[in-house]
Amino acid sequence: MSLCAVKPDEAGAGDSFPVAENLCTIVSNDWVNEEYRLLIVDAPAIALAAKAGQFFHLMCPPDGESGNFLRRPMSIHRIDREQGQLHFLYKVQGSGTRGLATLGQGDTLDALGPVGQGFTLPRGTQHVVMIGRGVGLATLAPLAQEAVAAGAKVTAILSARMASLLMAEDALRSDGAEVVIVTDDVGNSDTTSLEALLRRVHADRPIDFVATCGSKRLTRLLQDFSTEFGIAGQVALEQRMGCALGMCFACVMPFRNTAADGTRTVGYRRVCWDGPVFNLEETVL
Ligand SMILES: Cc1cc2nc3c(=O)[nH]c(=O)nc-3n(C[C@H](O)[C@H](O)[C@H](O)COP(=O)(O)OP(=O)(O)OC[C@H]3O[C@@H](n4cnc5c(N)ncnc54)[C@H](O)[C@@H]3O)c2cc1C
Ligand code: FES
Repeated sequence: MSLCAVKPDEAGAGDSFPVAENLCTIVSNDWVNEEYRLLIVDAPAIALAAKAGQFFHLMCPPDGESGNFLRRPMSIHRIDREQGQLHFLYKVQGSGTRGLATLGQGDTLDALGPVGQGFTLPRGTQHVVMIGRGVGLATLAPLAQEAVAAGAKVTAILSARMASLLMAEDALRSDGAEVVIVTDDVGNSDTTSLEALLRRVHADRPIDFVATCGSKRLTRLLQDFSTEFGIAGQVALEQRMGCALGMCFACVMPFRNTAADGTRTVGYRRVCWDGPVFNLEETVL
């Protein structure tokens, strides 16, 4: 059973889309490395209509004695419409994600969504470069799927503390992305090395869209790079959330607004409802 709601039209808030309380059956929920688990669920059609960058607000079972009253936001890692499945890649951090880790095959996951504004790939994009770190890699993978399907080349730069913590590499390669790995222990994940890498990639084949998630440092780097070369770009932001439906304002953050006459002001927007994906130039870190 799913309870369906429709996002009302709001000036400037994007298109309407259906949001449902989806009762999904767990297919598997296994460790992929020492910190992250991959959760695969059978999902109904409304959930499978999700777009890259949108997320679900997950009801997490209790972790031992303590219940989890609030849902926890989780990006979609993969939408497998053929199998009718959604994949979530999550880091086990606190009470909510520890509760999520207790779910096993055949259990039910209550997933509210899909929620939010996802990535918007400009028409005619030829070369997408995405840089993700940590769990940011989970969020970017569906964008690679969409970009390759739209005929664009995708270069995915995956950053992690060490190679054993990298995720999504195989999925990205099998989706047709060129994968470049940088790690702290090898010493090529600092911003100076990454900026040099971006310049080389751009010189080799001009980049016309950049995307990132999971790191303020990487977001700043891409803001500077995209401004210098006039490249469009977006970032998927993370913020603590309450309702995830635009009603409680727990998730507001400041953003730069530019008026028609070029005047710049700062205003607050809801990460859950107006995002979580925002244009790089609007994002205040
Ligand atoms: C739109 C969105 C998409 C997300 N997608 C993913 C994903 O695909 N995979 C994934 O592992 N995590 C994702 N997150 C973060 C995830 O929601 C939090 O890790 C989770 O809510 C933590 O809950 P918890 O009860 O386990 O930990 P808590 O006990 O609540 O917190 C444990 C630690 O996690 C930090 N934390 C909690 N919530 C957030 C948050 N929203 N953003 C950043 N840090 C947080 C806390 O500061 C604390 O250090 C996403 C967050 C948002 C807003
Ligand atoms: S979490 Fe309630 S408005 Fe965003």
